[in-house]
Amino acid sequence: MRIFRDIEGLKVWSLDQQNASRRIGFVPTMGALHEGHLRLLEHAQSACDVTVCSIFVNPVQFNNTEDLKNYPRTLDKDLELLEAKKCDAVFIPDASEMYPETPQVKFDFGNLDKILEGAYRPGHFNGVALVVSKLFNMVMPHEAYFGQKDYQQYMIVSRLVKDLSFDVKLKCVPTTREQSGLAMSSRNARLSPEERVRATILYRSLRHAQAKLLEGKRVSEVKTVVEEMCAQAGCRLEYLSLADRKNFAILEQVTESADCILLVAAYVGEVRLIDNMMMTE
Ligand code: PAJ
Repeated sequence: MRIFRDIEGLKVWSLDQQNASRRIGFVPTMGALHEGHLRLLEHAQSACDVTVCSIFVNPVQFNNTEDLKNYPRTLDKDLELLEAKKCDAVFIPDASEMYPETPQVKFDFGNLDKILEGAYRPGHFNGVALVVSKLFNMVMPHEAYFGQKDYQQYMIVSRLVKDLSFDVKLKCVPTTREQSGLAMSSRNARLSPEERVRATILYRSLRHAQAKLLEGKRVSEVKTVVEEMCAQAGCRLEYLSLADRKNFAILEQVTESADCILLVAAYVGEVRLIDNMMMTE
């Protein structure tokens, strides 16, 4: 497995792959790798000739300095996992390599970056769009793999690719869950064993809400119950929302279930977790 810390080395390798007509599959991550990340890599491997994974805890997408400081970092273990999975190349730049100067470009995604994660984490999607654009220019992938777990992020990146004509095919991979239903997340590493049990409330809330909404209930009604369920579990609900999965318009009731996605964010102790579910899942 090739390990690149500098952009130049990575670009030379990527151009070599292009010249040899090998299709490059790319999995961008912030490390603290888990099964969910590895599943993305497997999808990339099955569709492409070579795979690149990036590990970079992107400071500009954190709207909260404590969250950035506490973000789990397990680089040695991550590299072992990628090596064992036969990933071809890893890009692990440091912040000065990625941001030699303070970036000035600002993105505006219309409605998409103003709601849900965009509303609760101001500047977050600007930082995601910035780093993903830079990574696409450095890796020059044919395909890039993102998780449904961060569905709004996937929508943002889709818009980015369309509006800036990036020549990359995006793939959205279903969420990998633990047996308990808890969506795998790097931030789960910050949960105590007891909090990990409590955190299953996100999945249970989604399932409950899905059933009630399919019966014709309104989001506002369902949300009141879910808020109570979360409080009982010792968690604090931040949002439970129903959206049109194509344009992310917020809905008050299920229209066509195939077009709707339910999204949730909640605090379990100090740790903020998100999850989502298609209405047809
Ligand atoms: P990170 O949280 O490390 O996630 C990297 C990729 O793995 C994302 O596309 C995310 O949606 C996906 N992922 C995380 N947990 C998953 C799960 N349980 N099942 C399936 N996929 C999962 O998302 C980021 O990093 C960053 O914002 C990044 C895109 C790398 C830009 O910095």
